[in-house]
Amino acid sequence: MKIYRVGNYEALSEMGADIVAEQIRQKPDSVLGFATGSSPVGVYKNLIKMGLDFSRVTSFNLDEYYPMKKNHPQSYNYFMRENLFKHINILQENINIPNGECGDPLAECADYDQKLAAFGGTDLQILGIGRNGHIGFNEPDGKLPLATQLVDLTKDTIDANARFFDHAGEVPKQALTMGLGGIFASKHIVLLINGGNKAAITKALLSGFVTTQIPASLLTLHHHVTLIVDRDAASLL
Ligand code: F6R
Repeated sequence: MKIYRVGNYEALSEMGADIVAEQIRQKPDSVLGFATGSSPVGVYKNLIKMGLDFSRVTSFNLDEYYPMKKNHPQSYNYFMRENLFKHINILQENINIPNGECGDPLAECADYDQKLAAFGGTDLQILGIGRNGHIGFNEPDGKLPLATQLVDLTKDTIDANARFFDHAGEVPKQALTMGLGGIFASKHIVLLINGGNKAAITKALLSGFVTTQIPASLLTLHHHVTLIVDRDAASLL
């Protein structure tokens, strides 16, 4: 894992966007893995400003709440549209997000993995990390799924995400998430960590041990991970 410590969220966002931009310049038909949440928003803002050509890019998002309507303002589908897709020239048919409206989550997950595998995984995957060490919605557990799955969200994740809903009771209790296999199939993973509330998990992530109780710790086994961490998140290192 290559670790870059930067001063603040702006620097993290610029560096993350530069890596994505270089990927697209090197390979205009790149397959990019996107995450939602606050960590990558700055990267997306910078990518929009750069005016890159996304016309040949294919994207796969990590996750979506379940059940969730695509047009719900808290859906990850809506998030991606508002924060990135409607501002760039990516083709609608090249966008892949687990379908929170599907009637058969098992079939949806299998289709998602099949499509991702047909592309040979992503060229570059943007990741954030939960305060509990989750990646995608792969929550701490004794075992972690390889395949895309319908998973139960932990109380910590529901509480963390409640800030986006009118009240905690509205946060969906389940999600469709790419599994560890899909994430690890990426050729280059860029993990973004910012803010003092991620300092403890950043320290745990880099403890020198791997455990499924900190799903992100498994990333230390991947051959090409770039970690960009800001000063606040790195404050306990
Ligand atoms: C989002 C995702 C999650 C987030 C994580 C951090 O697609 O997969 O794992 O990356 O919950 O969220 P933020 O960035 O809001 O702190």
